[in-house]
Amino acid sequence: MTAQIATLLVERGAPGTPSRVDAFAVPFAPGQSLLDGLRWVRAHADPTLALRYSCLNANACKECMMLVDGVVAYACTARLEAREVRVGPLPNKALIRDLVTEIAPPDERFPSARPGDRA
Ligand code: FES
Repeated sequence: MTAQIATLLVERGAPGTPSRVDAFAVPFAPGQSLLDGLRWVRAHADPTLALRYSCLNANACKECMMLVDGVVAYACTARLEAREVRVGPLPNKALIRDLVTEIAPPDERFPSARPGDRA
């Protein structure tokens, strides 16, 4: 079976640096997820692409949440399609790099530097 091609337009950047959009042509088989495609990019095209995930395909960890065509979605449950798909970081969270944003509740972040904490 011939692989189909999805074009992932990925918003990249970090705080204090200009953002950019990189395009990646990603081969896929029907049923593969956007997370599969982003992992393919890291393995075959650009190992510097930053993304976060844990459970891979269960919609359980919620770490792969990102903007997919302007809508918040889980990359592990979104399916690749043979078209352009724009992917970006969550807009209402602090950007760490590329598709990674700060998602931990403030009192669960490490290292702690809250006022009143003991050194
Ligand atoms: S990787 Fe865990 S919810 Fe998507």
